Amino acid sequence: MVEDTPGPVAWANTGDSHPLMRGSVDSKTSAAANRRWWDADAEDYHQTHGEFLGAGSESGDFVWCPEGLREEDVHLLGDVTGKAVLEIGCGSAPCSRWLTGQGAHAVGLDLSRQMLRRGQTAMAGGGPQAPLVQAGAEQLPFGDGVFDLVCSAFGAVPFVADSAAVMTEVARVLKPGGKWVFSVNHPMRWMFPDDPGPAGLTVMLSYFDRTPYVETKADGTVSYVEHHRTVGDRIREIRGAGLILEDLIEPEWPEGFEREWGQWSPLRGQHFPGTAIFCSRKPDPDT
Ligand SMILES: C[S@@+](CC[C@H](N)C(=O)[O-])C[C@H]1O[C@@H](n2cnc3c(N)ncnc32)[C@H](O)[C@@H]1O
Repeated sequence: MVEDTPGPVAWANTGDSHPLMRGSVDSKTSAAANRRWWDADAEDYHQTHGEFLGAGSESGDFVWCPEGLREEDVHLLGDVTGKAVLEIGCGSAPCSRWLTGQGAHAVGLDLSRQMLRRGQTAMAGGGPQAPLVQAGAEQLPFGDGVFDLVCSAFGAVPFVADSAAVMTEVARVLKPGGKWVFSVNHPMRWMFPDDPGPAGLTVMLSYFDRTPYVETKADGTVSYVEHHRTVGDRIREIRGAGLILEDLIEPEWPEGFEREWGQWSPLRGQHFPGTAIFCSRKPDPDT
């Protein structure tokens, strides 16, 4: 069911869609729409953000968010040398490639073939190599307890209907003591219009309204979906999967940093966070 009511924050809008539609959308429909959307948007996404993300560079890079927080500086994953790492929603996998370059055994997973193709093209030129897997984040095609670390930089979690299932799957594939660190749009952004300017400073929607943001094509086909969770929802989903939440990072807008990314801007960054990074761990009964 899709209603024509004002919508909140979206990671991005497609040109030929109706952007302000909201409604309830299940996992299958969300995945199908987002796979098509990211396939179609892969080129534009990389033209706009590829350089910032290190996507075209041979060594890759690990940028957590539009505020420019880099794993090289913040070490949220700790020492990755020799670690088996899964990256969820890897896109063209600059993060997985960077992790490989740091001595990790990284695997990148994404729903979109065209995003993954760009990663393959980047690796064909040499540099660190990472196996890439096309799959959805709600059912991970890996055995139990095989990864030391799982990470995601704005990949999959904001786009899935059942983010609790992602948490459960991550807990399953992690080894005891393993870390799960993921960045998403900060839940409070849901309240504001998708605008980097002054119009993006006025509350338009209830923070508590979990109705997803949905775009549809003229024929009614769902073409893009984002799902909202409050901070409390995210914490409960992490804890519900049996994981321990160790930190919640809200990166501040860096002084003098001018680069806008969609609704992320220096103006909005002065007033409230744009990104939330959840750092969690699977308990180890032996320690
Ligand atoms: C904003 S991009 C981030 C890509 C990459 N992490 C980066 O920093 O450039 C979101 C990615 O999540 C992927 N994605 C969306 N829904 C997904 C799902 N259900 N399972 C796996 N990947 C998904 C998209 O295909 C896209 O590559």
